[in-house]
Amino acid sequence: MPDKSYKIAVIPGDGIGPEVTSSAVKVLKAVSEKFGFELNFSEYKAGGCAIDEFGIPLPEATLEGCKSSDAVLLGAVGGPKWDKVDAKIRPEKALLGLRAGLGLYSNLRPALLFEELASASPLKNVSNIDILIVRELTGGIYFGEHGRYDSSELLSDGSSKGTVAFDTESYSVAEIERIVREGFRYAMGRSKKLTLVDKANVLESSRLWREVAEKISSEYPEVALDYLYVDNCSMQLINRPETFDVIVTSNMFGDILSDEAGMITGSIGMLPSASLGAPGTPGMYEPVHGSAPDIAGTGKANPLATILSAAMLLRWSLDETEAADLVEEAVKKTLKDGFRTVDIASGDSDTVLGTEEITAKVLERI
Ligand code: IPM
Ligand code: MG
Repeated sequence: MPDKSYKIAVIPGDGIGPEVTSSAVKVLKAVSEKFGFELNFSEYKAGGCAIDEFGIPLPEATLEGCKSSDAVLLGAVGGPKWDKVDAKIRPEKALLGLRAGLGLYSNLRPALLFEELASASPLKNVSNIDILIVRELTGGIYFGEHGRYDSSELLSDGSSKGTVAFDTESYSVAEIERIVREGFRYAMGRSKKLTLVDKANVLESSRLWREVAEKISSEYPEVALDYLYVDNCSMQLINRPETFDVIVTSNMFGDILSDEAGMITGSIGMLPSASLGAPGTPGMYEPVHGSAPDIAGTGKANPLATILSAAMLLRWSLDETEAADLVEEAVKKTLKDGFRTVDIASGDSDTVLGTEEITAKVLERI
């Protein structure tokens, strides 16, 4: 009996989710055997499949199962089948509910350019993109007050405003402090550069982010802190992506910038993510890509982002560093040896494989 054993909640979700999580689970099993620890997997439903079966996207049993695990591995949720359901029970609500329910305030989204895939980047002459986006995940406009009301105010032309909808961006000092501190901590472990991205020329909440970051920066004198407005940042990510190291930002800006950062690495199908809460509580790991309903069931999905998410799970939730390193190495070797899924194939020398075949190549390298 191995002396270390961990409980992993697996949420395959919708679309290609079940295919890519099954690959990652195989990889996790392989490294657990190799390094002598035990993994106990339990599967739970969330997203569209849970709406179909239970009428709600996040059943209580799923949240409870996740809470009592050491870590959660999630595939993807959502798809056109559920586009018309009531906004209150959309599949995305499962993600937001898991984030809030597990207190996952810190979302790590690395955007790494794999040398072998540089030609897949839409940018010319790129190399050395290695950015870590630290996105606040349980506050801001996603979780602020939302609503609608009928306004009696008039527009400048005298016509009536009518129905108004609003979503509120609000952040407390405590919420900003804990995520900004995460940003500094990761910067310390990397090249000691931290960029706070905000809209402080317009938003009061952004000005509070700056004040807090300025204060915390005195605790990390070795880290060079700079500030960028989000509109400028979206431009500079295209203009000089290699100059960024760690970016810390609010929930919505992080959502938008992480898609952009993913795109410039040319490999949205390659990008993992981790969502973490207080130390000692379960983290959630998922690929950055969505449920890709158009290719679900065709066996073409790229499982590498989910496999790399499993590596993050090993590293951040289980502290199984060697196993995490080995998984990342195995993925890199698989690419180096010319194996690709169709989404990342470019050169003639590439061997294009399906989900299961490329998973087998990773497993051979473990
Ligand atoms: C993401 C997604 C989610 C988000 C959606 C599906 C709710 O875009 O994880 O980036 O906006 O956070
Ligand atoms: Mg997003």
